[in-house]
Amino acid sequence: KCVPEAFDIEEEIIKTMNDYDKDVSLKKIDLIIGVYRSEDGDLYLLPVVKKAQQMVLEETLNHNYLSIRGIDEFTKAACTLILGDIEKQWNDETIFGFQCIGGAGALKIGADFLHQFMECTTVYFSDPTWVNHEPTFKSSGFKNIRKYRYFKKESKSLDIEGIWEDLSNAPENSVVILQVCGHNPTCVDPTKEQWKKIAKIIKEQKLIPFFDIAYQGFASGDLIEDAWVIRYFFQEGIDFICAQSFSKIFTMYNERVGNLMFSMKPSSEIDVIKSNVSKIVRCMYSNPPNHGTKTILKILTNSELYNEWSNSFTIMVSRIKTIRIDFRKALEDLGAPGKWNYITDHGGMFILLNFTSNQLEYFQQFYHIYVSPPGRLNVTGLNTNNIDYIAKAVTETLKK
Ligand code: LMR
Repeated sequence: KCVPEAFDIEEEIIKTMNDYDKDVSLKKIDLIIGVYRSEDGDLYLLPVVKKAQQMVLEETLNHNYLSIRGIDEFTKAACTLILGDIEKQWNDETIFGFQCIGGAGALKIGADFLHQFMECTTVYFSDPTWVNHEPTFKSSGFKNIRKYRYFKKESKSLDIEGIWEDLSNAPENSVVILQVCGHNPTCVDPTKEQWKKIAKIIKEQKLIPFFDIAYQGFASGDLIEDAWVIRYFFQEGIDFICAQSFSKIFTMYNERVGNLMFSMKPSSEIDVIKSNVSKIVRCMYSNPPNHGTKTILKILTNSELYNEWSNSFTIMVSRIKTIRIDFRKALEDLGAPGKWNYITDHGGMFILLNFTSNQLEYFQQFYHIYVSPPGRLNVTGLNTNNIDYIAKAVTETLKK
């Protein structure tokens, strides 16, 4: 017998994608999911990925199982991408990783571990956050799902006092999900000084920081700059867990490449933690897949490919900046209700329009433009052909 309300599989992003697929209008525009689209509106595949894929195919001699923790060289390269030189910590095993099924998989394995083995029952997310955070932690058994204030809807700016206050009141051993850069869905991130105080509160309150990084490079155009806060926690000696997604940063969404990084002080518990996490993986999917990970590993460990890849952020981010400038101008020229400076004040993949549910319905049904509720728009889906149409649609919708 099926248990009612077990899980709403039609959560808002997936539901909107289904609605988009059903729409037969030739005018329809997909601004829903966080994927990089090029100027022609198509999904973009980084040329360096194609190159590396070919190399991997040629080298593949068999399809043997990987280990439970995945490819060791990959998890090391993934942690290095965030923290820089970790040779010493890798050797003394105070930093280690588990290759996971995308960033979502890393979050799920981390959530299961924290609940089953660390007895955590309380988790804090930013308000708003990625729609899948809450269901993931609930499904792992977290009983207390709490939100910390994050975003001021009126001014579309960071509610830093709200973050500080809410985290200062969080009980010990609470898990705090911290999106590192290009915050989903607002694209508003704390400054370095603001992060420093967040770190201080987390340390004082004995909270467990769980970073979620999916858009490294997309906020500033610089991979190292975008991971600054994790490096800061590391330097401050604060233990943390980090879920890394490789989907967005390598434009490889369906290969499901992720890493769950642990960084902690030397402890006799490290082996126990590894075996606990291994048990979760073994019971869930046994061991991770190979091909996408090998492709990414190739790029991360070959300096020529790495440079080509990291330089591509300059191009992608500069296009995002241009779209943001043009979109703001188009909205201001049309007299769209509200202030639009926040569009150019921030970088990254998303712009959050706070539509009411009626406005959202009108926007989708009348203009056939699909965004993730309540109005998260994928900036890269805008281009010279559709930007004026979208600006007009937003303007008219906000006047409803
Ligand atoms: C998004 O927020 O668009 C992505 O993280 C994709 C997803 O799975 O929701």
